[in-house]
Amino acid sequence: MKITIIGAGYVGLVSSACFAELGNHVVCVERDALRVAQLQSGEVPLHEPGLQELVARNLAAGRLAFATDVALGVRHAQVLFIAVGTPMAADGSADLTQVLEVAHAVGRHVSRFLVVANKSTVPVGTAQRVHDAIAQGLAARQLARVPAFAVASNPEFLKEGAAVEDFMRPDRVVIGVPEGRAGERAAGLLRRAYAPFNRNRERMVVMDVKSAELAKYAANALLATKISFMNDMAALADAVGADIEQVRRGIGSDRRIGYDFIYAGLGYGGSCFPKDVAALCHTARGAGQRLRVVEAVQAVNDAQAGRFVQRLLQHFGGSLAGRVIALWGLTFKPGTDDVREAPSRILVRRLVAAGARVQAHDPLVHSLEQLMAGDPPARRARLAPHVAFCAGPLQAAQGADALVIATEWKIYRSPDFAALRRALRAPVIFDGRNLFDPAELGRQGFFYQGVGRGQR
Ligand code: UDX
Repeated sequence: MKITIIGAGYVGLVSSACFAELGNHVVCVERDALRVAQLQSGEVPLHEPGLQELVARNLAAGRLAFATDVALGVRHAQVLFIAVGTPMAADGSADLTQVLEVAHAVGRHVSRFLVVANKSTVPVGTAQRVHDAIAQGLAARQLARVPAFAVASNPEFLKEGAAVEDFMRPDRVVIGVPEGRAGERAAGLLRRAYAPFNRNRERMVVMDVKSAELAKYAANALLATKISFMNDMAALADAVGADIEQVRRGIGSDRRIGYDFIYAGLGYGGSCFPKDVAALCHTARGAGQRLRVVEAVQAVNDAQAGRFVQRLLQHFGGSLAGRVIALWGLTFKPGTDDVREAPSRILVRRLVAAGARVQAHDPLVHSLEQLMAGDPPARRARLAPHVAFCAGPLQAAQGADALVIATEWKIYRSPDFAALRRALRAPVIFDGRNLFDPAELGRQGFFYQGVGRGQR
């Protein structure tokens, strides 16, 4: 099939490479010419296991092309996926400027039946707005024969660090199509595009457009709820002297609960959960509803990293003036170089504000420019004198008054504890990811605090 993907960001690039790998002819359109040039030479500007190889192989096979020209993309496609950014606007809503720009371009250039499928995470009702924008563009052309089109919703459930795998072995493919003839044609074409995944088991879940749009938000909000629930429970565990890790083991085996996403920690980060939870609350308010559970999920998450720093501050009598804090892990989760909404960014700011010097290590983040990307330069400049980036975990620990663990990278899971104790000025560990057994760390001579491990 002929497929166009608009946007060579995370979702767009992974989808482009994977659809090409499935044998389709894919054009991936990206407005950033520099990024397109990079991609054309086989250079992949983001860290995602397997993606580089996939892009190179399909470029070489002529199944994958990159371009800056939207018109070319529209003319190429039987199915066009919109995978552009939907950043959070100041009021918490999703900013649809880029999505609607694509819709206008489709209206200006479409010349035969086209399925436009939204892959970007967009609020309920966006497909209708995309439809209207395309129709407007078409009307302005005053064509003798107006080509038919359908706007579908095809939300993406990829996890960073496992995106290629997730795309190639989806749990489900959610498709929302409009009623009527165009909708049926759209369902047929999308079914063809995803046919390779339906061989052993039907994975397509076809529904109306609005339900598909809402399903994406509901999935992320429910996962976020599990996390905030456990973080809330962790605070109680601390207060009553229970261990959240034992609680987790005690509930996960119930299949209705499951072991996934019930790890207490520093709160969820990344490019999806915080943004989507906020956007969902916003959508609800716009519809005259309040999602009281989801609002609470957000409030718990917003407070989580701060509470952790508070406990560290308490340990040091309220101030970190003159203290050195080692910080392991900066990305929002392991296996990615992504620091968007990473709890580590809050930690660094709060630690420095309390007077500390931070010695940081992360396998993929090596500078303040990288860590604080998107922040005002003035803020970075204020932090710069107080944050050092170290070559290894032990170097970061050297001479530090405490070690803070913010991301559960594998290399942090089994440190040489004797060497770590020697490196640290004091054997103090504040573990935001509950990597270790408190009793064992006690035996090793550490003062150890996790999240919800029963320590007041
Ligand atoms: C997520 C969803 O999983 C994916 O379906 C959606 O399409 C995009 O958002 P991603 O942002 O890549 O994917 O990360 P994920 O692995 O889901 O982790 C999200 C955050 O939750 C991380 O900050 C992680 O540390 C945190 N988390 C996760 C917890 O704190 N506890 C858990 O038990 C699980």
